Amino acid sequence: MVVVVWDNEKYDVGVKAFNNHHKRLADIINLLHSISDSDNNINHITLVYKELLEYTKYHFSVEEKLLLKYKYENYQVQKLEHQRFVDFLVESFKKFKEDFYIVDLIELIDFLGEWIVSHILDEDQKYKEFFAAKGVS
Ligand SMILES: [Fe+2]
Repeated sequence: MVVVVWDNEKYDVGVKAFNNHHKRLADIINLLHSISDSDNNINHITLVYKELLEYTKYHFSVEEKLLLKYKYENYQVQKLEHQRFVDFLVESFKKFKEDFYIVDLIELIDFLGEWIVSHILDEDQKYKEFFAAKGVS
């Protein structure tokens, strides 16, 4: 099953690298969902979850660096939302590793997908015009 149905136009934030990052995040979430749904292999799930965590941290740091470089006015909002999401991912991963069966994985992954989509549509698309005006694409 697919959690995030990717749409290049709908999710476009105007910066090519970030579009690629977001697409990659959606792909990882979809993969996580499909392996949780099918084989339920804890090692495989752990590996992909870790990839999601690492890639999310990587993407946020690159995004924040560019926002900061251009003195984006909503930088603090972005930073806070990113931090909260990473904290949530770390905490969920900890719970998952401690006791695999405590975490309702499918529910968790659905939430991750919803968060990414709404963050892109609400917060990230706000910097689309900002970067366009600066000639950043
Ligand atoms: Fe963001």
